[in-house]
Amino acid sequence: MKYRQLGRDGPPISAIGMGRGSEAIKFGDEPLERAFNATIRRACELGINFFDSSDAYWGSRHEVLLGRALKGRRDKVMISSKFGNIDLPDGKKGLNGRPEYVYASCEKSLERLGVDVIDVYYLHRVDPAVAIEDTIGAMARLVGQGKVRWLGICEASPETLRRAHQAHPLVALQTEYSLWFREVERAILPACRELGITYVAYAPLGRGLLTGRIKTVDDLPPNDRRRNHPRFQPENLKRNVELVKELEAVARRKGASPAQVALAWLLAQGEDIVPIPGTSHLRNLEQNAAAVDLELTTAEVKHLGEVFAIGAGAGERYRPALLEKWGI
Ligand SMILES: NC(=O)c1ccc[n+]([C@@H]2O[C@H](COP(=O)([O-])OP(=O)(O)OC[C@H]3O[C@@H](n4cnc5c(N)ncnc54)[C@H](OP(=O)(O)O)[C@@H]3O)[C@@H](O)[C@H]2O)c1
Repeated sequence: MKYRQLGRDGPPISAIGMGRGSEAIKFGDEPLERAFNATIRRACELGINFFDSSDAYWGSRHEVLLGRALKGRRDKVMISSKFGNIDLPDGKKGLNGRPEYVYASCEKSLERLGVDVIDVYYLHRVDPAVAIEDTIGAMARLVGQGKVRWLGICEASPETLRRAHQAHPLVALQTEYSLWFREVERAILPACRELGITYVAYAPLGRGLLTGRIKTVDDLPPNDRRRNHPRFQPENLKRNVELVKELEAVARRKGASPAQVALAWLLAQGEDIVPIPGTSHLRNLEQNAAAVDLELTTAEVKHLGEVFAIGAGAGERYRPALLEKWGI
């Protein structure tokens, strides 16, 4: 594994972090729980030390399982979690960045994770009904109380990022970034660079698209949420699969997998970028970790950047109602 610095003067974190994984695990489902533990254990063996979670993942079960799986390894890993992206009783998504909610959420996450302190605590989505200074101010109090070490934010605009960072220094911004989605290069990535904030790239494999394994909607399991995702709608998918062919061609020439090339391309964008691919499979995990050793030439990086130019990918990255709700 290779390591990159968290924020301007934070600790080293693995250049490839560990996303939540794609399979929702039900409590009591022992085989799935064993498989989850095995991936976390293997990630640790591979030197991955940057683990992502949220109180919104798998109805909060992810925090519980991650905490259990990391027992005995707590001092060797960085645990990140998030709050504020909530499920409303009617099944719709809601937001909550109110200070009292921040404190209550953190207590619950600490309990579920079974730890005394969360290393990186993110605001999962900005709540437009609350001044960002109030939300970050409450998170800063958690730092003061020793419940949280560092602060991060997801999907913030450059202006919100600056205001948040002014309220309390942030070490990480977590927002989508991949060959498939490069709009962030226009404004938010430069803002992170100016402020010394690590860019944690979520969905670095385009939610699986950049692995070359998804050619038609039928390649997705029947109950897979991506079936409702704009990027995977038949017409968009057809165009996206055409783009991925070029990634596959580069991968063949390098003797690597498309996923590895997609991750290597992201890593080549700067030392301040840390992708967190999600996987529930050991083989994929090992492959993703090995991407840190895949060197792309300047010409390959440029070529891929041209093929996957900004706006080349088809389909929005979320359903329109969510984009509007989150103001992203
Ligand atoms: N902050 C936020 O708002 C936010 C939003 C979305 C995601 N995230 C975080 O970012 C992480 C990554 O995003 P994501 O999981 O949605 O998307 P992703 O990492 O782009 O793609 C994950 C998909 O790729 C597959 N995959 C992974 N490695 C592979 C490989 N080497 N070969 C073939 N297939 C591979 C996985 O399937 P298998 O399980 O079968 O390997 C899964 O279906 C999440 O897990 C989560 O922690 C954060």
